[in-house]
Formats: sequence, C-alpha cells, structure tokens
Amino acid sequence: MSDILLKVEGLSAGYGAMPVLRNLDLTVARGEIVAMVGSNGAGKTTLLRVLSRMLGSTGKIELDGQDLSGLTPDQAFALGLVQVPEGRQLFDQMSVEENLLMGAYRRRDKAGIAATLEHVYELFPRMRERRQQRAGSMSGGEQQMCAMGRALMAQPKLLMVDEMSLGLAPVIVDQLLDVLSAIRKQGVTVLLVEQDVFAALQVADRGYVLELGEITRTGTATELTEDPEVKRAYLGI
Ligand SMILES: Nc1ncnc2c1ncn2[C@@H]1O[C@H](COP(=O)(O)OP(=O)(O)OP(=O)(O)O)[C@@H](O)[C@H]1O
Ligand SMILES: [Mg+2]
Repeated sequence: MSDILLKVEGLSAGYGAMPVLRNLDLTVARGEIVAMVGSNGAGKTTLLRVLSRMLGSTGKIELDGQDLSGLTPDQAFALGLVQVPEGRQLFDQMSVEENLLMGAYRRRDKAGIAATLEHVYELFPRMRERRQQRAGSMSGGEQQMCAMGRALMAQPKLLMVDEMSLGLAPVIVDQLLDVLSAIRKQGVTVLLVEQDVFAALQVADRGYVLELGEITRTGTATELTEDPEVKRAYLGI
C-alpha cells in the first residue's frame, strides 16, 4: 500500500462550456488532513463534486491506486469517498438517529453499524442526547455534527468536508476541528474545503490555495499561515 491515498493530476472540469477547474495537481496522503482553501467561487465545491463523481472531468484521479474516472457517484461512495456537503443537507423531517443511519445505507453488518453509531455518539455526545430530535429543528452547529456523523457512518477512507465552519460560532468551529483531529488519529484521511483559511490551517497538515480554479500555492499549514500573500489575501493583514 502506497502512502498516497488520493492522487489528482491534470484535472480539469466545468459546467457546459464554462471551465471552472484548470489543470489541478494534488495529493492526499493516508492519515493526513489536507485543507483546500479559497474564496467564493474558486471552485472548491466543484472539486468535491468531481471527486465524488457527480461531475465529469478530464485528467487523472486515483484513490488507493484505483482510477476513479469511469465510476458513478455510488461506486465512488462504495470505495470510501464520502462527502459532508456544503449546507449539511440533512433530512430535516427525520430524527438525528435516522439521519445518522442513512450514512450506513450500503452496509449490511448490523453489529458493525451499531458499533459505528456508538462511536459517533462518543465523538458527538450532543447527538446522543438529541437522537430522537427532528434534525431540522437543531442549531446550525448541531446540524453540522449530525452531517459529519452521518458521513462517518459510511466508514470513509477519505472524508471530504465542505465549508464546515460556515455560519458557526468560533467555539463550535473549534469543537468540530477537534473532532477532525480525533478521527484522523483513528485512521480517517480528511480533505477539508474552507473559505475560513485560518480555521482550516489550524488543524491541517498541508494545504492548497485555490484561486479562480487554479492552485496558486501549496505548503505545510505553517508555511501557508505565515505566507505574506496568504495573510494579505485572506486575513486582510
Ligand atoms: N451547477 C452549476 N452550473 C454552472 N456553474 C456553476 C454551477 N455550480 C457552480 N458553478 C460556477 O462554478 C464556479 C465555482 O463554484 P464553486 O461552487 O465550486 O465555488 P466554491 O469555491 O465552492 O465557492 P463557495 O466558497 O462560495 O462555496 C463559480 O463561478 C460558480 O458560479
Ligand atoms: Mg462551495
């Protein structure tokens, strides 16, 4: 097993004739947290759609050495590419626990599903308390916990989180970042897509800056945090 989990080379994609992503190269090593940061419209969500195979692309995408280009979204999900989508997209009328179990819809191992559910409740004690509550009636932070828990129920190899921090109070964002660190220690690899550059780099090992569909910078989280250009563009310093 190579230590590169995700390898992307020369990836381009767009909507109709409009190009959005141009010739991206990136890698995510097994066990890493990698941040993909950039402002509105940079193409971050588009990249996650491409990786999930909801949107076609040219260029190379490999997970664990396996070519993903011909796969359907369901097949990519089955290989362990699991997204926590922008805006959470919970089933509002369903309970927290029903939402969590939706993440395990492909699994047949009842005992395993129960064990993962227990694990999710340990990571998010609030979800255990709220397990009968209608998902749509929870706070934004609680809904984000539920969406992350649902993704974990699928036992992802690569967890892709889109704008986790959006609209949440800093104290909640810190809690969610701690959960990402914890699950990484348990062997889940994470690709974190964020407008909040400094929140993402706080927890990431490495990062890429995406601007207008192109990667313009990459480095360790420390290098990027100290990069004067990154500071100027994303912190207003
Ligand atoms: N379904 C679509 N059809 C046509 N254009 C789209 C579609 N979805 C996104 N785009 C365009 O693609 C570009 C990249 O959008 P994308 O949503 O990937 O950006 P983003 O980096 O996720 O932005 P944000 O930070 O606002 O979430 C934008 O110019 C957007 O208008
Ligand atoms: Mg987006």
